[in-house]
Amino acid sequence: MKGIILAAGKGTRLYPITLPVCKPLLPVYDKPLIYYSLSTLMQAGIREILIIVPPGEVGTFQDLLKDGSQLGVHIEYKEQMVQRGIADAFIVGEEFIGQDSVCLALGDNIFYGPGFRQKLRRVVRELDRGAVIFGYYVQDPRPFGVVEFDDSGKALSIEEKPAQPKSNYIVPGLYFYDNDVVEVAKTIEPSARGELEITAVNNVYLEKGQMQVVPLGKKHSWFDAGTADSLYHAAGEIKSAQRSGVMIGCLEEIAVRNHWITVDQLREIALSMEQTQYGKYLLGVVDDLLEE
Ligand code: G1P
Repeated sequence: MKGIILAAGKGTRLYPITLPVCKPLLPVYDKPLIYYSLSTLMQAGIREILIIVPPGEVGTFQDLLKDGSQLGVHIEYKEQMVQRGIADAFIVGEEFIGQDSVCLALGDNIFYGPGFRQKLRRVVRELDRGAVIFGYYVQDPRPFGVVEFDDSGKALSIEEKPAQPKSNYIVPGLYFYDNDVVEVAKTIEPSARGELEITAVNNVYLEKGQMQVVPLGKKHSWFDAGTADSLYHAAGEIKSAQRSGVMIGCLEEIAVRNHWITVDQLREIALSMEQTQYGKYLLGVVDDLLEE
């Protein structure tokens, strides 16, 4: 399975912060926002990754993530010249996807929680035909894609930003599809806001009876960090979650635990930023691994 991170939003809702730096590179507590979506793909075991970036921004993303080999993954970059909506990622990424299935992660969504890695691995292992998305309970679902269920808990439809939501379960920005998604994305029409909506793609799969909605339990955390308030909230949540001593979204730790890089490689990276909290944490991971 291939992975795509859609990080093409400049973040106009965050001006003036995002005038010189685009949104996915902004910090969420102690690491750039895009680390969290990349960590999700890596936890799913996905190693071939395309990052879709705003026009002219390949270099800035490359400065941060290079070709991915330092993390044991392969990262390519492609610009989205016109922002045509989330589903456009499959058209921009058509060549990269080739004949494979694909997981799309939005570059401003953060996920973590107990058992998440296992859940992701199971989805990747079991996805043969069709699509898998998640359902997550929120107080106010109106700004999101919202799932409607029947009495038996079967998903009936998904509505994008409904004024009167039919449930409190929203669809967060992490989607798994078979290879048909490229063709599906080409058939949908732009919505009233002029975008190729991911919700339209999801409804095609739902109507074909090929969509599975997996609930993320109450202990799971999810946020989207597209506004000043949500970025601030996310930073606080990450800081308090990390008080347990385990970092969220630590790419090098995931890479070494996946056996994609060696402990020696990790030590080298850690020493290159030894003076930071992040580097010290990595040195701690090295020590733990040597003791295990
Ligand atoms: C998008 C999707 C929406 C989804 C949300 C998750 O919303 O359209 O279905 O629930 O991401 O963050 P947007 O960021 O375009 O408002």
